[in-house]
Amino acid sequence: MRIYREKDYDAMSRRAANIISAEVIRRPDCVLGLATGSTPIGTYKQLAAWNQRGDFSFKEVHSVNLDEYKGLSGDHDQSYRYFMQKNLFDHIDILPENTYVPSGLAEDPEEECRRYDELVKSFGYADLQLLGLGRNGHIGFNEPSDHFVKETHVVDLTESTIEANARFFASADDVPKQALTMGIGCIMAARRILLIASGADKADAIYKTVCGPITPECPASILQLHPDVVLVCDEAALSKL
Ligand code: GLP
Repeated sequence: MRIYREKDYDAMSRRAANIISAEVIRRPDCVLGLATGSTPIGTYKQLAAWNQRGDFSFKEVHSVNLDEYKGLSGDHDQSYRYFMQKNLFDHIDILPENTYVPSGLAEDPEEECRRYDELVKSFGYADLQLLGLGRNGHIGFNEPSDHFVKETHVVDLTESTIEANARFFASADDVPKQALTMGIGCIMAARRILLIASGADKADAIYKTVCGPITPECPASILQLHPDVVLVCDEAALSKL
């Protein structure tokens, strides 16, 4: 693992955007695995600014997102599809038909998971997978558990995740209780992984990710087994290392 220690959130965002843009410049038709949550917002803003300035283009890029809430349509303002439109896709020159997010409204969610797995596989997996980190060590929506799940699957969200994400909803009761998420297999099959984290409330999860045992109790700890992982964190997130 390579670890970048950045002063603050803005510096973390710029560093992460630099790594992603370098990938797009080097390989204009790359597959980007993308993430949601508050952490990547600054990274996406920076990428959009550089793209609008004409530094590089997303016209040949395909994107595959990690996850989606079960039961939310793409135009629900808390869905991850909506998040991606508002925070990135609407501001860059990526072709809408080249952006993929699991469907939260699929009649048969298990079938949707299989379809999504096949889709990501058909792209040869992500060239670069961006990840945020849950306070409990989750990646995508792979929650702490007694086993790792390889395939895209439907997951029951933990109380701590529901509570952490309640800030985006009217109340905790409105947070969906389930989600569709890429499994550990798709994530680990990415050629390169970029994990970003900011703030003291991630320090414990970062410590366990880097120094803890490899265990499904901290899903991100499996990244220790990936040959090309870059961590970009601010000082607060690294404070326990
Ligand atoms: C969400 C997402 C994750 C994200 C994490 C952290 O639940 N499913 O992909 O990394 O929580 O979110 P935040 O960046 O807002 O702390």
